[in-house]
Amino acid sequence: MAPVTSITANVNARLADALTSALPEAGGADPLLRRSDRADYQANGILALAKKAKANPRELAAQVVERITTGDLLADVEVSGPGFLNVTVADRAITETLAARAADGDRLGVPLKEIPGVTVVDYAQPNVAKEMHVGHLRSAVIGDALRAMLDFTGEKTIGRHHIGDWGTQFGMLIQYLIENPGELSAETDTDGEQAMSNLNRVYKASRAVFDADEGFKERARKRVVALQSGDKETLDLWQRFVDESKVYFYSVFEKLDMEIRDDEIVGESAYNEGMPETARLLEEMGVAVRSEGALVVFFDDIKGKDDKPVPLIVQKADGGFGYAASDLTAIRDRVQNLHATSLIYVVDVRQSLHFKMVFETARRAGWLGDDVTAHNMGYGTVLGADGKPFKTREGETVKLEDLLDEAAERATAVVREKAEKVGLTEQEIVENGRYVGIGAVKYADLSTSANRDYKFDLDQMVSLNGDTSVYLQYAYARIKSILRRADAGDAPVAHPELALEPAERALGLHLDAFGDLVFEAAAEYAPHKLAAYLYQLASLYTTFYDQCPVVRPRPAQEVVENRLFLCDLTARTLHQGMALLGIRTPEKL
Ligand code: ARG
Repeated sequence: MAPVTSITANVNARLADALTSALPEAGGADPLLRRSDRADYQANGILALAKKAKANPRELAAQVVERITTGDLLADVEVSGPGFLNVTVADRAITETLAARAADGDRLGVPLKEIPGVTVVDYAQPNVAKEMHVGHLRSAVIGDALRAMLDFTGEKTIGRHHIGDWGTQFGMLIQYLIENPGELSAETDTDGEQAMSNLNRVYKASRAVFDADEGFKERARKRVVALQSGDKETLDLWQRFVDESKVYFYSVFEKLDMEIRDDEIVGESAYNEGMPETARLLEEMGVAVRSEGALVVFFDDIKGKDDKPVPLIVQKADGGFGYAASDLTAIRDRVQNLHATSLIYVVDVRQSLHFKMVFETARRAGWLGDDVTAHNMGYGTVLGADGKPFKTREGETVKLEDLLDEAAERATAVVREKAEKVGLTEQEIVENGRYVGIGAVKYADLSTSANRDYKFDLDQMVSLNGDTSVYLQYAYARIKSILRRADAGDAPVAHPELALEPAERALGLHLDAFGDLVFEAAAEYAPHKLAAYLYQLASLYTTFYDQCPVVRPRPAQEVVENRLFLCDLTARTLHQGMALLGIRTPEKL
């Protein structure tokens, strides 16, 4: 493995050196480099530096230019405007850098972090005995992408699926099962759909008895106490609800083409034993106080209506622990036992107040030190085409599997239209249809900044035009087909001695920026930046392909080879980038 320093980083270093040597007393400055239309880059940093040194910016810029040697890396550096620098990179440097990337397999020359941290990603957390909804879909899709991106930078990630597997509702469910044995029969529950329909039936039936029968209500309440105190029979039945639900969860994750590890499913129940200690410590430290019998934490800046403070409830007046206590206990575990340096929670933005209070409490208690960051990556609501929260025509929440099935169905129709031309078998049509459909759903979710609401519009999602995954998947397949037809082999050869066309330079510089971009998007927890990068990559490729013929009219042999080399690296970068988003790129489409 040979990591490659990006051209941007090299140019930046050169300019920074020149800045320092032109004005040593300033002690260095950021050249403020950015990509530009006029040249490859524009550097604006001289303006601020000149101001600080009370120098004339244009004169200072000229002095900086004098100190830059052109040739190997830089072809040209010019002063422009009030004291900007326009920087043009040498063609040879572009091709050589890309060739080094091409020689580095899947990593494409992207280095690994020197000092990786441990990030615990809390995502894909559905609730036991309940249907998954589109919100759970967002958490799963975003969390999965985030994790892959962080892993790619060398960060160590640990997944935590904080499923809702604990709480008073289990008293009702278990008591019902005790009084109606056989309602949740294990043998027949082989597929997820069956499992969920069993759970739904038990849920509805138990709810009905609970609402109608005071005696049952009382027995259900006692059952909660039995569960919390670890009664064997009660726990065994609870486990059956969890197991049955997992069958269902896994079937949905599989539909999502997503791998979830069993040892990372660590739900609320896992923190049950630690919760009393969490409460005791908080009370001892004075972080939490008793108020109307409950143990709570107050915050100066968090107030509800009538300016009344809204506390975080650690323990209810009846002694029960809830959501906050499990999250606080989880933080202790993640920091102390998993040695997390970052905690990230991919959870609906509507829970952001909860996390704000939980993080603040953990900081006061010293469980979250200055060396640990905690962030709720709150995502917005999924809306229907009408702009209202996504519901079926009957006003019910949409079942996740139905939605994924429909996406696959629509996508299969799109794939089928072109299938004959490309020569796909029926099996390939179905398989690709699935990847295109799931990809469409994931990409729509990932390409808008997560905190925004987005419209779930399948027609738009599987459209071939515009910023969709299908567009990117077709771009990839088209490049692969060009490479196949040109008999380009496994590793097309680059020719650094050739001069490059503007479209080749633009594509090349963008390809080179892949690693820097992934690092930036991962650090900012912003998968949408990676999606935007890939979309732009496909657009730059299209321009390149229009302007720089590979086959007809046939250019000189080295030019053909160099262009095929660019095609190949584009395909590999697209493939890797899409994989980080959790989206497959079929070879033929
Ligand atoms: N199960 C919860 C829900 O469906 C989400 C859990 C989020 N994670 C957490 N650590 N609180 O809303």
